[in-house]
Amino acid sequence: MCQNHGVAYIKPGEVEIQEIEYPKLALGDRKCEHGVILKIVSTNICGSDQHMVRGRTTAPAGLVLGHEITGIVIEAGRDVEYIKVGDLVSVPFNIACGRCRNCKVGQTGICLNVNPARPGAAYGYVDMGGWVGGQAEYVMVPYADFNLLKFPNKDQGMAYIKDLTLLSDIFPTGFHGAVMAGVGPGSIVYVAGAGPVGLACAASCHLLGAAVVIVGDMIQERLDQAKSFGCEVIDLTKDTPLEQAIAAIIGVPEVDCFVDCVGFEARGHGSNSGTELPATVLNTAMAVTRAGGAIGIPGLYVTGDPGAKDKAAQEGSLSIRIGLGWAKSHSFYTGQCPVMKYHRALMNAILYDKIKIAKAVNVEVITLQDAPRGYKDFDKGAAKKFVIDPHNMIMN
Ligand SMILES: NC(=O)c1ccc[n+]([C@@H]2O[C@H](COP(=O)([O-])OP(=O)(O)OC[C@H]3O[C@@H](n4cnc5c(N)ncnc54)[C@H](O)[C@@H]3O)[C@@H](O)[C@H]2O)c1
Ligand SMILES: [Zn+2]
Ligand SMILES: [Zn+2]
Repeated sequence: MCQNHGVAYIKPGEVEIQEIEYPKLALGDRKCEHGVILKIVSTNICGSDQHMVRGRTTAPAGLVLGHEITGIVIEAGRDVEYIKVGDLVSVPFNIACGRCRNCKVGQTGICLNVNPARPGAAYGYVDMGGWVGGQAEYVMVPYADFNLLKFPNKDQGMAYIKDLTLLSDIFPTGFHGAVMAGVGPGSIVYVAGAGPVGLACAASCHLLGAAVVIVGDMIQERLDQAKSFGCEVIDLTKDTPLEQAIAAIIGVPEVDCFVDCVGFEARGHGSNSGTELPATVLNTAMAVTRAGGAIGIPGLYVTGDPGAKDKAAQEGSLSIRIGLGWAKSHSFYTGQCPVMKYHRALMNAILYDKIKIAKAVNVEVITLQDAPRGYKDFDKGAAKKFVIDPHNMIMN
């Protein structure tokens, strides 16, 4: 019997490497003939995991984390027709059946058949269907042919693995945020947040031809990272209102496109930069986006936040000045990124050297045993994207 180890959430501020069950090709009592088991090559720590580990969700103790998975197929069910044992594949974080009305139109982030509680599912995530996470050595992927992206060549795939590992979530997510904000050639964009998603979004904006990409955050190291690939930056620890800071860069106080890569744990500006203000990014988005502009919102907003200060926010109700957005005819686009919409094209952008996404988000590869340290450093605001290498296939 194979062994398996994974990263389990224990309590706020604590994760632990545990021996976990080796995955079964099963859905409840029946065999999952359309699924595969993967030996995991790389699996990343995400800002979304941090919401759980900071105790800001109802994640239960013992939850095996991890939704950003790349691996080699080692076992395939009878009905898997096109993916083969030995393939090196990227796993979209959205689990999607390929059969429901949403999947049929490419809305794989809100598949209707994979989570009894609500539309949409993911590996290793609270409220997302109870699927076992993949910050582990092995994982089961239930809808293999539909979900998996096979890399064309395994050796080349391993050579680009630090970039390709980002296809399971943050590269498509950042790109999706930019697309939904209407970014195209010549756009002037503001990206809120310089975490891995914000940095991936900023790099995506360049790929899409944006003229100016401005990134705002309060962590200097992350802003320096954004600067390293040609972004303008705004230090939000300063008291200058965002409109003024934007005008100092482009001459006018408004941008064409705004992407919220922060979410509900947002903090305020200047003297408020240490205070949580969950609606602040959404409200500044409406203030600094031109009339007719669009706002992409990959940053996560939750339906329940036990750690929120006020009662309304504990239920996910935030005070947003929707009248302003209405008056300016803004478009808003929220939700989980439907990774499969983008992952093949973005894989090609990587393999044909059109983007250095691992460099943009500053990938650091760590062992599975080192994952708790990765969580801690990431939480402290390291300008890094931690990629776990559970079988030492990348570092060796
Ligand atoms: N929609 C999706 O499919 C999807 C996928 C992945 C991640 N996410 C979400 O995207 C968000 C970002 O992920 P990440 O991994 O980069 O997380 P992160 O926590 O590392 O980054 C968030 C950054 O926002 C900064 N910040 C806080 N308040 C701010 C403000 N008012 N203005 C500007 N910056 C501010 C923080 O300092 C931090 O650097 C998270 O909410 C995550 O859950 C969504
Ligand atoms: Zn993620
Ligand atoms: Zn579906």
